[in-house]
Amino acid sequence: MSRHVLTAVAWPYANGPRHIGHVAGFGVPSDVFSRYQRMAGNKVLMVSGTDEHGTPIQVQADKEGVTARELADRYNRVIAEDLQGLGLSYDLFTRTTTRNHYAVTQELFKGLFDNHYVVERSQLSAIDPTTGRGLPDRYVEGTCPICGYDGARGDQCDNCGNQLDPQDLINPRSKIDGKAPKFEESVQFFLELPAFAEALGSWLQSRTEWRPNVLKFSYNLLEDLKPRAITRDLDWGVPIPLPGWSDRDDKRIYVWFDAVIGYLSASVEWARRTGDPDAWRAWWQSSPGDEPARGYYFMGKDNVVFHSVIWPAILLGYNGEGQPAGTAGSMGKLALPSEVVSSEFLTMEGRKFSSSRSVVIYVRDVLERYGADALRYCLAAAGPESSDTDFTWEQFVTRNNTELVAGWGNLVNRTVSMVHKNVGRIPEAGELTGDDNRVLQASRDAFAPIGALMERSQQRAALAEVMKVVAEANKYLSDQAPWKLKDDPARRDQVLHVALQLVDDCKTLLTPFLPDSSDKVYAMLGGRAAWAGQPELREVDDLDGGPSYPVLMGDYDTEAVWEPRPISPGIEIGPAVPLFAKLDPSVVDEELARLETSG
Ligand code: MF3
Ligand code: ZN
Repeated sequence: MSRHVLTAVAWPYANGPRHIGHVAGFGVPSDVFSRYQRMAGNKVLMVSGTDEHGTPIQVQADKEGVTARELADRYNRVIAEDLQGLGLSYDLFTRTTTRNHYAVTQELFKGLFDNHYVVERSQLSAIDPTTGRGLPDRYVEGTCPICGYDGARGDQCDNCGNQLDPQDLINPRSKIDGKAPKFEESVQFFLELPAFAEALGSWLQSRTEWRPNVLKFSYNLLEDLKPRAITRDLDWGVPIPLPGWSDRDDKRIYVWFDAVIGYLSASVEWARRTGDPDAWRAWWQSSPGDEPARGYYFMGKDNVVFHSVIWPAILLGYNGEGQPAGTAGSMGKLALPSEVVSSEFLTMEGRKFSSSRSVVIYVRDVLERYGADALRYCLAAAGPESSDTDFTWEQFVTRNNTELVAGWGNLVNRTVSMVHKNVGRIPEAGELTGDDNRVLQASRDAFAPIGALMERSQQRAALAEVMKVVAEANKYLSDQAPWKLKDDPARRDQVLHVALQLVDDCKTLLTPFLPDSSDKVYAMLGGRAAWAGQPELREVDDLDGGPSYPVLMGDYDTEAVWEPRPISPGIEIGPAVPLFAKLDPSVVDEELARLETSG
């Protein structure tokens, strides 16, 4: 029973290289999930791209003395390279400055406008008293009117999680110079969120599988839905697609409105690039008789409100499913998220990651020094899946050396080396003993429960279970000690057969987590085709005549399947290829020293 699975991954701002906090939240979990889903036989569409509009881009561009467009071009490429290096298997990783994205964003805006869910109103906007320029929501700080927290921002209070408007803040001040902003009336377009209160409520009630904290948080938001401005006084963004507005260069669609639409526009772009422009529909619209498509959205917890309330409201509005009812837009009715999978924050050496405070570890540095799978392993084994989690170099080195090198790497290495030296090919199984059958059965039996954990994105627990299978295999090898069986080569070869089968099973179980090293194991055991696919960076033309840009795409229709497969006796086995490098404990001090000097 194969179904369509949309993996919708949060779009990183194109304002700098990615640090490991970013990819622990949206990157590794979404890729582990997608790789598992493909292996389980489902049709996965994994899309994302760089988020290139709005304040975060404008502010960094000002800092670097370049235009927003130049900044976005620079970091779109840097980020695409970071994510490719990490082996994230996007079907399409694109950007929000494509013409296709503009068109889809404007189509949704118009659909909502035609249904009267987007209306024009006037509101007070914050103005920087020094420059006279509009002050973006995130650049106004003050005391939260709801919980009294003093570091609340004009868009949101990170303490109580409520959405705010800058003028709600008590004692507002500009983050740039600390001065109190002026508030002036200006006309904006508003998304009428109250029109969706009922529809959102019944939709949330059907989301029984979500993590309880995400559900509770989302219910709370429904209690106080107010119209939200979805345009800003800015010149960088998607133009407002209405007569009299589209040529104005001082008003643009708000970045969060266009960013979430990226999931849809990227699906459309992917379909157009694969030559079947309607192919996206299978992930967004269920046709009668089909298993309904499911959409899984991956992000850090600070993004939840946009995915559990704003994006569903936009979709409901486009479908005409608010109050009063309207009509669906020309793309047809679109599916709401099935799951919002949010992660908590990654701290490091006890401090919160923040590029501004320079307590950062960049993905590309880790990849260069230690390789993708070591990082993927540590983030999957000890990432912020359900609580804030601290990353330490000490733990990174320990896990690499004990779990990857001495655990999994050693199992592969001793088994393959012994087979290569003593037999040269995969030995026959012969008449297996009780011990042999027990360990083989346990390994086969691991697939279903670990698969169930993967379905629910309980990846830490899933990986821990896989590593138990690896430990059992290592124990079997030590107990049977084939190296002591020189006088009984028949039994020795039989033990090696069992050990090779265990290695093969473990490499399958580890594939979603460690695609690169699993590929190597597959090849060592005689595999000739592609096992786990890897993303490619491709230079493409904009489909509608805009400038060309890099994308990540890939062929993930590979051999990897989530099931144990019997190995084939007789296949030649070459020398073992090392999978992981042991790290000297001095790495910890080196890395800590690097952090200090960069801070
Ligand atoms: N750029 C946002 C951030 O980094 C995330 C956008 S997710 C999207 O916080 F779906 F809305 F694009
Ligand atoms: Zn608050």
